[in-house]
Amino acid sequence: MFPIHRGRRLRVNESIRSLVRETSLSPADFMFPMFIMEGENTKVEIPSMPGIFRRTLDLTVEEVRELFALGIRAVNIYVKVSDNLKDNTGKEAWNENGLMQRAIRAIKAACPEMIVMPDVALDPYSIYGHDGIIEKGDVANDATNDALVKMAVSHAQAGADFVAPSDMMDGRVLRLRQGLDAAGFHNVGIMSYSAKYASAFYGPFRDALDSAPKDADVAVPKDKKTYQMDYANRIEAVKEALWDVEEGADMVMVKPGIAYLDIVREVKNAVDVPVTVFHVSGEYAMIKAASERGWLDHDKIMMEQLMCIKRAGASLISTYFAKEAAILLNK
Ligand code: PBG
Repeated sequence: MFPIHRGRRLRVNESIRSLVRETSLSPADFMFPMFIMEGENTKVEIPSMPGIFRRTLDLTVEEVRELFALGIRAVNIYVKVSDNLKDNTGKEAWNENGLMQRAIRAIKAACPEMIVMPDVALDPYSIYGHDGIIEKGDVANDATNDALVKMAVSHAQAGADFVAPSDMMDGRVLRLRQGLDAAGFHNVGIMSYSAKYASAFYGPFRDALDSAPKDADVAVPKDKKTYQMDYANRIEAVKEALWDVEEGADMVMVKPGIAYLDIVREVKNAVDVPVTVFHVSGEYAMIKAASERGWLDHDKIMMEQLMCIKRAGASLISTYFAKEAAILLNK
C-alpha cells in the first residue's frame, strides 16, 4: 500500500522498464501474408493496402529471400486466380501445375528454410467467391471437405511445410490430417483458422484476390455467415479451437486480431498448442489510412498493436506489417 508501494519505481527509466517488461517481439514472431499472380517481373499495389503488392512468382521469390534475411521464418501464401479457371468445384485448387503449387515449389527451392503455409480454401477458385462448393443455396460442408483434402495433399506434394485451412468447414482438420497421413505426409502440419469470424475487416484482402462473394444466377449466400463465426460469440471460439486440436491441428488461429484479443486470451488459456493471430487486411488499412493523414504515428501504432496481440497470448502473428516491423526491430 502507498507510500511503501510505488508502481512508478519500475518505470523510472528505459533500463528498468526493459528489465521488467513482460512481453517481447522479434521478427520470428511474424508470418508474412503474400499475394501471388501470374506473369513476370511485375508487382501491383493493392489500392486499399498501401505498401502491399500482388507479385509475380519471380518477384515473390526475391521478396521471400529478403524476408528471411530479416529474420522472418514463415509466409502465408494466397493466389489470384484468373476468372477462366474459376468454377463451382474449385478444381484448379489441386492442379499440380497451378499457380499455388508452382509458388510453393519456387519458394522452397529458393529459400528451403522458409516455412511455407499455403491457404486452404476454395474462395480464390470459386466463381461464387465462397470458401466451398455451392449446393442448394449454401456451401456444402462435406463435399467441400473432399475438395480441401485434394488441395492440401497437392500443396504437400509441392513441398508445403504446413497447410492453413481458412474455410471454417466442420471436420476439415480431421479430414486433412487423415488425407495427408494417407499420402505419406506425416510431417506436414496443420495451422487451422479455428476461430475465424465473419468480419468486415477482410474487405481489402478480397480486393487483393477478387474473392468477395458474388452475385450469381443460382441461389448463393450473400455473405459467409453460415460458416464463419458470429462476432457476438466468445464461448463458441473455445469450442471450435478445442475441436480442431482434437482433430489434429498443430496450431490454431484467431482472426481478426485487435478487436478480438479477449478471444485470443480465452483460446490461449484453453489449448495446449501454439495460438496464432491474423492481424488482417482491414486492420492494416486503418493504420495506413490514419497515418497517411497524420492522425496516428504509424510506427508507434504498428508496434503497439503487434505487442498487444502477443501479450494477449499469440505465439505467432500473421501480419502485413511483418517486414516493416522486422526492419524496426533489427535496428
Ligand atoms: C479466405 C481468406 C480470407 C482471409 C484469409 N483467407 C477472407 C475471407 O474469409 O473472406 C482474410 C485475410 C485478411 O483480411 O487479411 N479463405
